[in-house]
Amino acid sequence: MTSIESAPTPAADEFDVTDFVQEARVDGAVYTSPAIYQRELDTIYSKGWVYVAHESEVTERGDYLTRKIGTNPVIVAHGKDGEVRVLLNRCTHRANKLCNAEKGNATNFRCPYHGWNFSNDGSLTAVPMREGYGDAFQAVRDELALAEAPRVDSYGGFIFASMAPEGITLLEHLGRSTKAIDRLLALSPTGEIDLRANWMKHRHLANWKMVVENNVDGYHALFTHKSVYDAIRPAKVSHIPSKVKVVVRDLGEGHSEIDYAEEYRKLDEEFIWYGRTTRERLPEYAAAMEASKSPEELHDALVVGPPHTLIWPNLFLAEMNVMYVEPIGPEMTIAYTTPVLIPGQDKLNQRTIRRAEGAMGPAGFLIADDGEIGMRNQAGLAATNPKWLVLARGLETDFEDETGIVNNDKSAETPQRGFYRQWAAVVGQEI
Ligand code: FES
Ligand SMILES: [Fe+2]
Repeated sequence: MTSIESAPTPAADEFDVTDFVQEARVDGAVYTSPAIYQRELDTIYSKGWVYVAHESEVTERGDYLTRKIGTNPVIVAHGKDGEVRVLLNRCTHRANKLCNAEKGNATNFRCPYHGWNFSNDGSLTAVPMREGYGDAFQAVRDELALAEAPRVDSYGGFIFASMAPEGITLLEHLGRSTKAIDRLLALSPTGEIDLRANWMKHRHLANWKMVVENNVDGYHALFTHKSVYDAIRPAKVSHIPSKVKVVVRDLGEGHSEIDYAEEYRKLDEEFIWYGRTTRERLPEYAAAMEASKSPEELHDALVVGPPHTLIWPNLFLAEMNVMYVEPIGPEMTIAYTTPVLIPGQDKLNQRTIRRAEGAMGPAGFLIADDGEIGMRNQAGLAATNPKWLVLARGLETDFEDETGIVNNDKSAETPQRGFYRQWAAVVGQEI
């Protein structure tokens, strides 16, 4: 008779992470257990840095966005004093969600329940019929400002927040992944990007980690995305891992990537990553880039193109798109994607938007396939035998250099191993 090792639900005080993550395998429970999901919220999303927004989305005073950090609804608000804050989206009276719009521009937020009014810097500015609280109220008014994420910092315009007042700095958190952000910004003549093309939303019936780790899985493309490759010819480079110099890399701290740079450098052709166009077809962009960079810098940027890099835990630099994920429950995730626009480059941006629709849009090729695969993965996990998912591909050919742990086989599961090493370190900590 087959023995079924059903995954135990860990009690808060007796959680041993090695029961769930080992060197090259993870327990299916990491994708299904409500208790593990709660532990992730209490560690990854409550103590560490989480991506929340991009500075281009809140450039003007009064600009705001509503987002989430784990379960916390937040308002990313550019205050009247010029500071961008991450305010908790919860009225300090009796907890009504203050702002329901996805984005906008406002000097203040008025609670729909009893009309308390907060400035866009979070301070409480008006309380209807205040005398009902008696004389003591004025004294506590300052304490009734909106709560804020205690730490907010940005790199290259990407704004991250941490719900913990203390911990490593954002730069320490980002580690080697800053190079991926730099690589993206190198494609802009001004060194800035614009993420205001609006976000496409996909609800995945899958655990958030399944959605995230799929982005750096170089093994599935030939199968899951066969229809894309059949439809789009010629492919940018061969999809057969043994035929190309495309590497996968564990950058440390949970960050990882699929890196086409070496293959592109070998081919030494500009814009392979962008449908094999040419500078002549994008004259305004080429002129702006030529004016802002040395010929060598420009050639290198246009040959190597954008990053394909996962920034732990919830941000993915998807070449000329950006994705972030929002966990909704152990088995549901919303993924948000937007094309990367280059300020002042309308022609290029129109093309980038069309490409994003083809890959990421509701009728697009790529994400729809990944969404279905994630859902089927989650459905398969309802069977609890075998207990483990295998992440051993390429384990014996990984090597370490100054860039991280690298594997020359694009289909190696090196990124997943790095992801779960970080997961074990963070989720396994004492809370
Ligand atoms: S809950 Fe917001 S004013 Fe009462
Ligand atoms: Fe995919």
